[in-house]
Amino acid sequence: MRNFAAPYAALIAAAFLLAACTGGDGSGGDETAAAGPPPMPQPITMASRPEATGGEAKYIEYCIMCHGPNGMGTGLLGRRMEVSLLEARDNLTADYVISAARLGIGNMPSIPRGEVSDEDLQEIADYLAAGPHIEPTPAGGPQ
Ligand code: HEC
Repeated sequence: MRNFAAPYAALIAAAFLLAACTGGDGSGGDETAAAGPPPMPQPITMASRPEATGGEAKYIEYCIMCHGPNGMGTGLLGRRMEVSLLEARDNLTADYVISAARLGIGNMPSIPRGEVSDEDLQEIADYLAAGPHIEPTPAGGPQ
């Protein structure tokens, strides 16, 4: 009856599920999906902020993949800034944002005109300089 495999299967299932596995047949596979880690936070996209227009919409389109709550820009800025989310800052000037984006800064690559036009970058910079737009929460990134 191939019962020699049953105790191992039950042990492995119990280890992963941390739950009672009463049967000796090891057929608990279906339950693993329910016992997984909590889902990752959803990335911020235009779909999650459909009300955004102008500079805010362009910031979401071009910058938030790195400067959102789980982005690498947020993580790295968190090492040297108290407020790591650009949208939560009250001390950015449009000129600073534009030169950081065009020249690159630290680990941020420069963003050429072919990717974000001068007009779009100006709108984004004006949006950030007019901040803060959101609360600076600790959820903004590590540290
Ligand atoms: C590929 C990822 C990435 C993208 C896309 C990106 N950034 Fe960054 N940004 C970074 C990283 C990483 C840093 C931190 C650099 C460091 O300190 O090493 C940073 C830093 C900055 C800073 C400096 C903040 C400060 O106080 O010094 C500004 C301003 C900035 N980004 C603006 C923008 C804007 C505007 C856009 C969109 C047009 C953008 N970034 C898109 C990764 C990105």
